Amino acid sequence: MTLLQESTEMTFPLSRVRASFPALHVKDQGRPRVYLDNSAGTLIAGQAADAVAKTYCEHNTYTGVFDSFSTDIDALVDHSYASMAAFLGSSDPGEIIIGANATTATFQLVNSMRHMFGPGDEIIVTHRDHEGNISPWLRLAEETGATIRWLGFNTDSWQNETDELRGLLNENTKLVALNYVSNLTGTIADVAGMTKMAKSAGALVFVDGVQYAPHFLVDAPAIGCDFFSCAPYKFFGPHLGVIWGRRAVLENCRPYKTRVSPEQLPDRFMVGCPPFELLAGLSGAIGYFESLGQWAGGTGSRRELLSSAFQSIEACEAALFARLLSKLQDFPQLKFLGPGVTPTKGARAPILSFYSKDGQLAQVSKALTARGIHFHWGKKFAFEASNYLGLGPDGLMRIGLSHYNSVEDVDAFADGLTAAFSKA
Ligand SMILES: Cc1ncc(COP(=O)(O)O)c(C=O)c1O
Repeated sequence: MTLLQESTEMTFPLSRVRASFPALHVKDQGRPRVYLDNSAGTLIAGQAADAVAKTYCEHNTYTGVFDSFSTDIDALVDHSYASMAAFLGSSDPGEIIIGANATTATFQLVNSMRHMFGPGDEIIVTHRDHEGNISPWLRLAEETGATIRWLGFNTDSWQNETDELRGLLNENTKLVALNYVSNLTGTIADVAGMTKMAKSAGALVFVDGVQYAPHFLVDAPAIGCDFFSCAPYKFFGPHLGVIWGRRAVLENCRPYKTRVSPEQLPDRFMVGCPPFELLAGLSGAIGYFESLGQWAGGTGSRRELLSSAFQSIEACEAALFARLLSKLQDFPQLKFLGPGVTPTKGARAPILSFYSKDGQLAQVSKALTARGIHFHWGKKFAFEASNYLGLGPDGLMRIGLSHYNSVEDVDAFADGLTAAFSKA
């Protein structure tokens, strides 16, 4: 055991954490799994996977009648909406929309807001964002005659410039769609500051928190925004997308729904039969965070346990990321995107993307994959930002760390990179 691991293990229950993720213990071609593609999707917590399986094995597939199958499912749905509200800092389950993934949930929300937009209205989107928080707004503008305004970012700091935002805002701005954590560099935007500016211009604000929620405790209402999106499969749960929306704004939305769907929140955003097993898995994932909060020494309310869990996640990921950055100093051929700062709630999440100045990354990626190392490769995941930066046809490599990664994982990646470059 290394010194770093020993000192981390004293404050962070790494062995217990790793034992909670069954997929970590699968071997890849006989080698221990090194899973560093967490920004694409994390491994599912055993607690979440068990809840999905239990629902399939023990329950029925519909609700709305009087038998115990049905009443158990009603309780399960209520629990998952309440858990998700607590996770996002709200005490109102009516403020939660759950969809197939973050992008689908955003399209669903956008469809419910058409009547609020028309010619002359303006929507601000950013070049820093994932398509999931761009395309829905482009479509809304196309269909309502609203105008899109683009907000750029500083390519050194990877931050949106507040002066540029100030220049774009005016009395016609109806909505500003912001990115919280870049899925390319992990840099954290000052969404609270930008929300304040947008609000003083009278705009609604949508914050894409998909890459923030796995690493830091979310308090969506405290940001001051109207909507906050996240994706549970990126924080140890099943494939779903969740949006928190301010109740008063959601009440003004007109979701596409059937005549028989209730009008009250959150039911008015539920169309047809919900995926009960995945909702159970969602509660399981949040239960996992609560367990982690206890293992890290936390006590008290659900929110206190979540806070304790995220404090320990933050400390552990910052130490691992610092090690990754220092190991990668030895590769002068790599060009890193974004500033080299250690993850903290104010600066960066543990996400790192880079390309090779001599264009050998495709070959290197294949060699790393053969060593059982999982990472992300390509450009589609950051379509808009890659175009904005004018990146060439070669793909990017992205490493996204999670709290269940070990020092050995980081070292295996750096050793694999050395070996792959020496052969390339
Ligand atoms: C920042 C960001 N926003 C939105 C999305 C879209 O999420 P989903 O796949 O749940 O639609 C992603 C996916 O990687 C993302 O990284």
